[in-house]
Amino acid sequence: MRVIVTGTPGTGKTTVGKRLSEILNYVYVNLNEELIRRGACTYNPILDTYEVMDREIAERIADEVIEISRNLVIDTIALSVIDPDKVDLVIVLRLHPLELFKRLKYTKMWKGTKLCSNVMAEVLDYFLIEAVDCFGEEKVAEVDTTGKSVEEVVDECLSIIYGKKERRRGIVSWLSLLDPDVVARLDMCARGEVSDDVLVVG
Ligand SMILES: Nc1ncnc2c1ncn2[C@@H]1O[C@H](COP(=O)(O)OP(=O)(O)OP(=O)(O)O)[C@@H](O)[C@H]1O
Ligand SMILES: [Mg+2]
Repeated sequence: MRVIVTGTPGTGKTTVGKRLSEILNYVYVNLNEELIRRGACTYNPILDTYEVMDREIAERIADEVIEISRNLVIDTIALSVIDPDKVDLVIVLRLHPLELFKRLKYTKMWKGTKLCSNVMAEVLDYFLIEAVDCFGEEKVAEVDTTGKSVEEVVDECLSIIYGKKERRRGIVSWLSLLDPDVVARLDMCARGEVSDDVLVVG
């Protein structure tokens, strides 16, 4: 089986993906790193991030990576360069935006636009929508990691992989849980209009 583990940066793709591959005895591959290493992405200093520059090369690299094995855990956010027919399941990790904010700010030391635009991506279900767009609903399953240990998240992913747990989407609704003022401040910070200091998350 080929399983993609995706989600907003900081939701735990690498931690969970590596653990899953160990337990399942699958090959683990970090497609984002592979795309950067092999020159399909370039660094955008304004956004402080890597972007796919050459789609054709990126698709070719993704294809080569996927052909490594039939039993694969693919850790990536570059969903649109992957051939959907070669993937069996896409797990989208979710994390409450205020937890994600703290994790990105204090663990990854991200700040300002980069920090807030990624948190806004989580608020707006960006990677869920992208996953469904690229792979179709039936292949996509969300896992809410909020308040769960890595082992608990891994166990939930395994249940989905083994078919013991239904592949569900629409399991979280961050917008309905968040104070509209907080969302407005996050949005302004994402656009560079205010600093992330206006978001003091307890
Ligand atoms: N369930 C969890 N509970 C607590 N901390 C976690 C959990 N999952 C991951 N972490 C921690 O969160 C941080 C980010 O995790 P990780 O690097 O796996 O995320 P990622 O989605 O791969 O991020 P990126 O997209 O930037 O590569 C790490 O410090 C990791 O130890
Ligand atoms: Mg990672």
